[in-house]
Amino acid sequence: MREETQAKKQIDAIKGTKDILPCEAGEWRRVEGVTKGIFELYGYRELRAPVFEATELFERGTGQTSDIVIKEMYTFKDKAGRSLTLRPEYTPSVVRSIIENRLYLQPEPMRYYYIGPMFRYDKPQKGRYRQFHQVDIEVFGEKDPAIDAEIIEMAHHLLKTLEVGETETLVNSVGCAACRPAYLRELRVEAQKVKEALCPDCQRKVIANPLRIFDCKVETCRELSRTFPQIINFLCAECEEHFKLFCSYLDLYQIAYRVEPHLVRGLDYYTKTAFEVISGKLGAQNALLGGGRYDDMMKQFGGPDICAIGFAMGMERLLSAVKPRVTKNSFLYFVYMGEESKKAAMGLARYFRENGIECLLEFKDRGLKNQLSRANKLEANWVLIAGEEEVARNRYQIKNMKTSEQKEGSREEILKVLLENK
Ligand code: HAM
Repeated sequence: MREETQAKKQIDAIKGTKDILPCEAGEWRRVEGVTKGIFELYGYRELRAPVFEATELFERGTGQTSDIVIKEMYTFKDKAGRSLTLRPEYTPSVVRSIIENRLYLQPEPMRYYYIGPMFRYDKPQKGRYRQFHQVDIEVFGEKDPAIDAEIIEMAHHLLKTLEVGETETLVNSVGCAACRPAYLRELRVEAQKVKEALCPDCQRKVIANPLRIFDCKVETCRELSRTFPQIINFLCAECEEHFKLFCSYLDLYQIAYRVEPHLVRGLDYYTKTAFEVISGKLGAQNALLGGGRYDDMMKQFGGPDICAIGFAMGMERLLSAVKPRVTKNSFLYFVYMGEESKKAAMGLARYFRENGIECLLEFKDRGLKNQLSRANKLEANWVLIAGEEEVARNRYQIKNMKTSEQKEGSREEILKVLLENK
């Protein structure tokens, strides 16, 4: 009895995951298509990496002190006892792939993009999911701050094309291995002074990595962190020059930006430039995209010393900010009566589909009137009636459902009409 009740119990999707239903998938495909098209205009090529990787990749890449690694990874053991993780982000996978496939030896610009699912065990809310989709771009081997500005310009190009509306661009520099240690020392001293008032997580961060206190969502920690020293005041000459030039290139592109000295982003790998584009349309989870430079990751992974920069954008957030376009497929609905005309309709549908016409043939025992009202309900553009008489004569009637205009002809003549009016 218990088993029977259990068997009947509805199984729902896992919390924080969502179905992309047929009525939404068209818009997803359109946005993905526009996105890929724009990235290709800038010389980016698609690189598809696996959904799961060795856990160590993210521990070393995303970083041991990041919230993602500490709290949010979907980590499991496979049957051979290896620790694997569903990727929480894409950046470390790209770096791994470049090293493993020695892509740096190819005579191609090292610019890659990818769109796919990521996984983070965070608290679900509007705009924050446990399986979400990122559009990710990464550039390697470009030291010049002009590329930092160009990827932001590319993001704006995309947002403008998709009619996202108003956004704000926040920029900062998080320094490098040369200038950050002195800043961290200073930051630790200041954080230590207010340690008791910080949340337990941040109290740990004071020693482990005080930079991560800036990622905390607890209001007291946020308020206190606003009084902490700012990394932008500790930059070495090289980082300062890089930031100055980067800002001047944004000016050249006429991209408005705000320097946000507390923007350090929640990942451990950033060096120099860090940025986010936020939108007022998104509610609490307002970051549409975020990224920055990570000049040391490739070297730290045992690869060549190649600098890098990139960003990732949340597809769910992007889709809730774009101006939607309603696109409907145009299709032909078949109406038939009896076994012989059904067989004729099956052959005709095959012929039309082979010639690029979308056809819908339903195998239900419905009367003529019922089939016509079904075509109406489904908003078919055309109806083809394959009655006994039509089949015998090998000539068919099609009806334009918008204008009610009817035409008769052989299958070739009908195909011509359909193609002309597609
Ligand atoms: P991130 O800031 O962690 O950066 O994520 C980038 C974007 O992914 C966010 O701005 C947001 O739109 C979206 N996103 C993140 N988490 C969620 C979630 N739980 N639900 C829905 N959307 C989410 C990175 O992932 C870096 N890998 C970006 C990067 C690339 N830096 C350099 N290259």
